[in-house]
Amino acid sequence: MSSTVPASRLVVLPSAAWASTVASELADRLARRPSLRLCLPTGDTPTPFYAELVAGERRGAWSLAGATVVLLDEWLGLPPGDPARCDVRLRGELFDLLASPPAFVPIAVDGADVDEPATALDTAASGLDLAVVGLGMNGHVGFNEPGTRPEDRSRVVRLARSSREAATARYGAGAVPSGGVTIGLATILEAGEVWLLVTGERKAGILRQALEEPEGIDCPASYLRRHPRLTVFADEAAASGLRAS
Ligand code: GLP
Repeated sequence: MSSTVPASRLVVLPSAAWASTVASELADRLARRPSLRLCLPTGDTPTPFYAELVAGERRGAWSLAGATVVLLDEWLGLPPGDPARCDVRLRGELFDLLASPPAFVPIAVDGADVDEPATALDTAASGLDLAVVGLGMNGHVGFNEPGTRPEDRSRVVRLARSSREAATARYGAGAVPSGGVTIGLATILEAGEVWLLVTGERKAGILRQALEEPEGIDCPASYLRRHPRLTVFADEAAASGLRAS
């Protein structure tokens, strides 16, 4: 990445400006490197960011056509097409709405061998220019749940009960997932840049833990502070518990 990209920083934004600011930052990286290789998360947090990316492409402000997007994580045990599937969400909220979508690398979880997609995922996610991640209520990043070590690579994981329940309660899954596959914390920390997206008051406590309490396996997001180019994009509600704010 260009040396003019700033080092670690916390960007606190009014809620109304959050999505457009993150989209503009991505447009900046795409302008520097149209063939950007990045991973993207799903969940409710990035939805308005993806809407901004679609709107910007429509008005001709930017294009993702030359980029490659690797999926950050995926559920195990949900059939193809399930509305909670991460590939379904990312296609529905972003790629299917773009006139010129980027290359997309989903996670092949529908085969017989559960370890195979993790191996392929780690290869696809090696040397990313940018890792965009969200923050789970328990401090997870992707599906790197509490207990994850910073040296853990992409793998099949057992999910915390709260994560499995979120699939049905929050994301409309037709069944409770049996597990997950995630880009590993080590693989994320090897990216050229890392962006942590956090919005909403309900994330204020876990964001404070991630950024201001000692790092540790009980909050995997805390290890992101090791990255020299971490940018935290938080709205004011999510940042309301931070001393720094
Ligand atoms: C999900 C995903 C993560 C996501 C996180 C936050 O379970 N595995 O990749 O970033 O939890 O989700 P949300 O943005 O809906 O709060």
